[in-house]
Amino acid sequence: MAERKPVIAGNWKMFKTGSEAKSFLAELKGKISGVQGVEVVVAPPFTALAQAAEAIKGSAIGLAAQNLHWEEQGAFTGEIAPAMLKDVGCGYVIIGHSERRQFFGESDESVNRKVKAALKHGLIPIMCVGETLAEREGGKIKEVIERQVRKGLDGLGADANLILAYEPVWAIGTGKTASPEQAEEVHLMIRELLKQTPGPDFSSRTRILYGGSVKADNIKSLMAKPNIDGALVGGAALKADSFSGIIRFKD
Ligand code: PGA
Repeated sequence: MAERKPVIAGNWKMFKTGSEAKSFLAELKGKISGVQGVEVVVAPPFTALAQAAEAIKGSAIGLAAQNLHWEEQGAFTGEIAPAMLKDVGCGYVIIGHSERRQFFGESDESVNRKVKAALKHGLIPIMCVGETLAEREGGKIKEVIERQVRKGLDGLGADANLILAYEPVWAIGTGKTASPEQAEEVHLMIRELLKQTPGPDFSSRTRILYGGSVKADNIKSLMAKPNIDGALVGGAALKADSFSGIIRFKD
């Protein structure tokens, strides 16, 4: 099996100004110095990206945006193009977060266009999938996840470099984490799906993160599962103490 480096990514959502980002990152750098073997990524709002990029210079922390538009440029008021994200220092971009699907009308098709646009510009997509509570209770987990993964990755080559995040909608911001067993079950299902398309090599090297109420006190048991390769963290990524506690899950 390919060695998969764990990724701990913080999704800041609509929190923190540029100056707050700066002081947070200065504190975070201090708290995670010496940590090895973990890929750390932060995803500030667009307006804080430039200051965040400056603040992480010289460190191993990666920078992500929370969204992008698939077009190169043009008359798309309020949108941000992939090249703009590259220019400001992003290496990653979150795509298809459930809040965007739920509140901003993102579809599997738009997610797919965004994933392709990101890859074309050398940005690593962090593509999110996940079922709602009603879908879980209706026995539709497999159907929903399979559709989101297949359509989101439609047309990609086996050499595509991206990260997947499984975030059950009912676990986001609710304090209700999926148990490590519940999460692993879906991660394994995704891993099997990826073996078919884009292919076995893609499947064995692609990191699948878990997201949904991840905290310093539950990260260890999640990371102990063979198909959980990291976490996409919301609320607990906003404080340097809690985020660094998650990053230091091996301590
Ligand atoms: P949460 O959010 O950690 O606050 O549940 C996770 C996410 O939305 O990515």
